[in-house]
Parts: sequence; structure tokens; C-alpha cells
Amino acid sequence: MSSIRVWQGDITRLAVDAIVNAANTSLLGGGGVDGAIHRAAGAELLAHCRLLGGCRTGEAKITPAFRLPARYIIHTAGPVWRGGEHGEAELLAACYRNSLALAEQHGLQSIAFPAISCGIYRFPHELAARIAISELRRAQAADGSLRELILVPFGEDMARLYQRLLAEA
Ligand code: AR6
Repeated sequence: MSSIRVWQGDITRLAVDAIVNAANTSLLGGGGVDGAIHRAAGAELLAHCRLLGGCRTGEAKITPAFRLPARYIIHTAGPVWRGGEHGEAELLAACYRNSLALAEQHGLQSIAFPAISCGIYRFPHELAARIAISELRRAQAADGSLRELILVPFGEDMARLYQRLLAEA
């Protein structure tokens, strides 16, 4: 049985099998956690991403992690929040589900997620956290290769939110 835990800080520092990148559909870098990951991984990451042909919203693609302590980066393009009536919740759930499925396909044991869409893409934090936890619990119940599922809030508010929701039944 895998565990779900919260680790607050900079996701680029985690020595896990895979960190997830809250990317955009171009996969060619950007601001926020995407910018931090590209800076820390080095220019080889961008060169590699250029060969991938982008990524549709809700889908995920895997690359090596180059100079990061992690082994792989799973890049997913989260939805931009546009009021909630444009399939945003389903698309965010798909980001988590497809990232977890890729990790399982590669036999990975540990994966760390930033709060996808919760920055520049303006997704409401509580709804996003509920979706993240529900998808991680689904993976936990499926009992595949993954042993450690880590939620990585950058700030304290997000950390408290994850802790509160995880403590609910
Ligand atoms: N480690 C962990 N979390 C972080 C880090 C970090 N180093 N840096 C920021 N966060 P965002 P989005 C948190 O904006 O909303 C990019 O330009 C941040 O506080 O990075 O999915 C992409 O290229 C927030 O809670 O991603 C896309 O164009 C969370 O990560 C667009 O932004 C996500 O914020 C994607 O927007």
C-alpha cells in the first residue's frame, strides 16, 4: 500500500523517481514551477522537449530529469481556470490520472506533484486540492508500482489546505 504525504518546498530539490511539471501545451518552458524545473534541469531539458511535439491539456509526457536529483520529469499541461464551466475539473483530474499512469507504466515507486494549475492558471485552490487528493487516493487503491505519493505545496496556505483535506475521511 502506498502512502500520501505532503512536503512543502521547492519540488526541484526532491530526489524521487519522478517530479511532475505544471507545464503548458508547448512544453517549451514558462514561469512558475515550469521555469524553476527548466532552470534546475539545464538546457538539455528544453532540447529534449522540443522533440515531443507539445502536450494536450490533461495529457502527460515523460522525459529524463537531466541535472535534477529526480530520475524523471512528467510534464502535464493543466487547464486554465475560466469559471469552471469549460471542463476544468475533469481536465485537472486527467492531469493527475495520466501522470500517475505514466509513472506506473515506467514501474516508478515515488512521484511528487506541484499544485497543478494553482498559480498562473488561477484554479481555485480548494477544488484543485480535492481533485489532487481524490486522484492520488484512486492510485493508492489500485496498488501498482507506486509506493510514495507526494503533494508539494510551495506556500503555507496550500500546505495547510492539503493537510486539512487529507485529515478528512
Ligand atoms: N516548487 C513547487 N511548487 C512551485 C514552485 C516550485 N519550485 N514554483 C511555483 N510553485 P504555476 P500553473 C507552485 O504558475 O498554474 C507556467 O508559465 C505555485 O506556487 O507554476 O499550472 C507554465 O509554463 C503554484 O501553487 O503553474 C504554464 O504556462 C503551483 O506551483 C503556466 O505557468 C503552480 O503554479 C502553468 O500555470
